[in-house]
Amino acid sequence: MSDEEKVRKGLVGVIADESRVSSVMQASNTLTYRGYSVGDLCDNTSFEEVAYLLLHGELPTRLELEKFSSAERENRNIDPGLWKAMQSFPMDSHPMDALRSFISLYAMYDTDAHLSQLDKASYIKKTIKLLATVPMFIAWDRRRRVGLPFVQPKQSFGISENFYNMCFAEVPKQETMKAFDVSLILYAEHSFNASTFTARVVTSTLSDYYSAITAAVGALKGPLHGGANEAVMQMFDEIGSPEKSEAWTMDALLQKKKIMGFGHRVYKNGDSRVATMQKYFFKLAELKGDTRYRSFYENVAKVMLREKNIHPNLDYPSAPVYRLIGFETFFFTPIFVMSRIAGWSAHILEQAEDNRLIRPICKYSGAKERSVPRMDAR
Ligand code: CMC
Repeated sequence: MSDEEKVRKGLVGVIADESRVSSVMQASNTLTYRGYSVGDLCDNTSFEEVAYLLLHGELPTRLELEKFSSAERENRNIDPGLWKAMQSFPMDSHPMDALRSFISLYAMYDTDAHLSQLDKASYIKKTIKLLATVPMFIAWDRRRRVGLPFVQPKQSFGISENFYNMCFAEVPKQETMKAFDVSLILYAEHSFNASTFTARVVTSTLSDYYSAITAAVGALKGPLHGGANEAVMQMFDEIGSPEKSEAWTMDALLQKKKIMGFGHRVYKNGDSRVATMQKYFFKLAELKGDTRYRSFYENVAKVMLREKNIHPNLDYPSAPVYRLIGFETFFFTPIFVMSRIAGWSAHILEQAEDNRLIRPICKYSGAKERSVPRMDAR
């Protein structure tokens, strides 16, 4: 079989297109958004600035940020018809299913939903609408599930503060808010990952923005992708106490189980985002006076490195950060969505601006060509 005919299962190593949005540099273990290292962005910018950067290609000036931010704040509203539909979402549905359905329904209330693919301004408008309403939906869904009333969005708050306030009806210490904002920056974009690729595939058919985002949410839900942050916390809960981590991990490896929050398709020597998230995780653990999750975190990672030489990915430190902040495990992946909307949208725009239908081929391995037998001969 020639190299060209070789099946690349999971599209391993396939360069599917060019992109100017972000670069995962395996050799130097760095990740840049539009040329800026994510560590630098985390220490020196806010999630809003990063969302702007991803969409527009440059960091905003003060005035551009003000405009972008006020457009987002003005869009924190949900049509009464949609509110009504949301009331019928089952309480026991998975929050990612609820969120995917919300975005799909939201599209029908946006009169611009089907504007031309080449209208950049309309894409940006739609992105701003989702940056404004997805956090509202997640916060509403969380509170109704724990039996608490809805908290109205506050115009004076930025995205992170507003979300936190809508979830917990208060604004936390600055360090807690910063750790959350950093998680949003780190989750915002990661090149041709499965959900982004899904969004680009949908866009390549000339379908609409919301269809691409809805499909991407479905791809992100899986535990091999975004669902891993929930799976990490389920693992810590299952282990029960930090001193059992070694035995639990050894047993799981013996059973050939995948340890959630470890490994990566591109990074083989560690995920460049982990060190940054870990720094904020350890600060938060200290602030909260809670060393339990740090112990789980360090113990399981030690075994994985020793036994398999496999490093953690971003979902590993972000899970305990969300737990320490106070989120229930089943809301970890929806939070990932509220951030990744920025990256997906940048890719949708890029795909639309220079589109070619994404349609790979496969090597057929089914039955040889044959004739249809008569019914009584089957
Ligand atoms: N636990 C145990 N063994 C692992 C793990 C893991 N988490 N990850 C990889 N391996 C082993 C795997 O068993 C295989 O071993 P062998 O060659 O002996 O069969 C080898 O490492 C190569 O793994 P692979 O599954 O072929 O690698 P992949 O590139 O296809 O998969 C992955 C990458 C992320 C799906 C995988 O590492 C995994 O399932 N990790 C756990 C889920 C997870 O944390 N996902 C989040 C990914 S990063 C953030 C995001 O995108 O959301």
